[in-house]
Amino acid sequence: MSAARELIDATDTYIIPSYGQRVLAAERGEGARLWDADGKEYIDFFAGFGGAGIGGHCHPKIADAVQCQARTLWCHGNFFTSRPQVDLARRIVENGFGGKVFFGHSGADAVEAALKLVRRVAGDGRYKIISFHGCFHGRSMGALSLTPEKYQAGFEPMLPGNVKADYGDLDSVAALIDDETAGVFVEPIQGEGGVNVPDASFLKGLRTLCDERGLVLVCDEVWTGPARTGRWYAHQHFGIEPDVMTLAKALGGGAPISACVASPKYADVLSPGTHASTMGGNPLCAAGGVAAMDLIAEEGLVDRAAEKGAWLCRTLREAQIGCVREVRGHGMLIGIELDAGVEARPLFLEAMQRGLLIGYAQTNVLRLAPPLITPDDLLDRGVGMLVDLLRSA
Ligand SMILES: Cc1ncc(COP(=O)(O)O)c(C=O)c1O
Repeated sequence: MSAARELIDATDTYIIPSYGQRVLAAERGEGARLWDADGKEYIDFFAGFGGAGIGGHCHPKIADAVQCQARTLWCHGNFFTSRPQVDLARRIVENGFGGKVFFGHSGADAVEAALKLVRRVAGDGRYKIISFHGCFHGRSMGALSLTPEKYQAGFEPMLPGNVKADYGDLDSVAALIDDETAGVFVEPIQGEGGVNVPDASFLKGLRTLCDERGLVLVCDEVWTGPARTGRWYAHQHFGIEPDVMTLAKALGGGAPISACVASPKYADVLSPGTHASTMGGNPLCAAGGVAAMDLIAEEGLVDRAAEKGAWLCRTLREAQIGCVREVRGHGMLIGIELDAGVEARPLFLEAMQRGLLIGYAQTNVLRLAPPLITPDDLLDRGVGMLVDLLRSA
């Protein structure tokens, strides 16, 4: 039996099957390349659902920072503080809208912190949250309550008072607001929903609506930040600042860390004793985050995401592939919508067979999120493989 097969079988034996059967046993990664347990090489255009999205796998600067921190101090609990978490928080707020940061470990965790913050701000019986059809905010019970019904089945009841508006439709948001509404959660670009980019005016309108009605506006940037879309944070494309922003995935350069960022107005709402996480902001993961944020700045990865993302979209569009209905995205977060009847998952599996790792969303959207450091020759090769695959679909 091959080493990869043996590992996948052992996964079935020992790990709860909530992810379904694994399709690849990963062993080693380097930048935008990954090898499985049988030594097969892949070009990785999805980088662990964006988790290794900045420097790719095991970037030497990020790996060195984590390794060095592991030999210095990797855990202290949050009665104490340490340099890496302060350095990471400073980089997050200085590239954004100021304010302060609460650290967690996962996207869902950051969304939970944001939910609690919104409830604290609203107080006096206002508890309802508006999110959007097609959104995704995570799988913990609070985050799940904001996420579409199909993910909730079997886990009801959800938190009370969560309602969904149509993404991109301000009237549908306005129609849902009442005296009990506390806030709005929105992805500036929907990731799991299929890389849906709203009209330029949507987020501005949402900002105005929230200001007029006294609602807290939360931008969930777990997929879109930092740097992925060609800005430090995707809301910057739309000329607004949210009250709260959530970050995770790429933030730690591959290490598990997330952030709930509160604007100056709300920076002290989660006052002492109101929220906590034993491992949140631990120095090991924070060191990965600092190195990843520095890599973005030193290597101009915000601009690179914009430039290479535009090139990828153009190349895919100009290929004029029959089964492709639309290529969309911002920076290096790209969705390829397929014609009705062309399923994304078989193409994801076929791409993997051919040595290219991509993602998919819904039933008919392929997703690309190559590490921002992916060199031109690998981008070229990967997109060539993808075009060949789509032509044969
Ligand atoms: C926008 C958004 N928010 C939250 C999450 C949840 O993140 P995690 O899987 O790290 O809990 C995701 C995951 O894909 C996401 O895309």
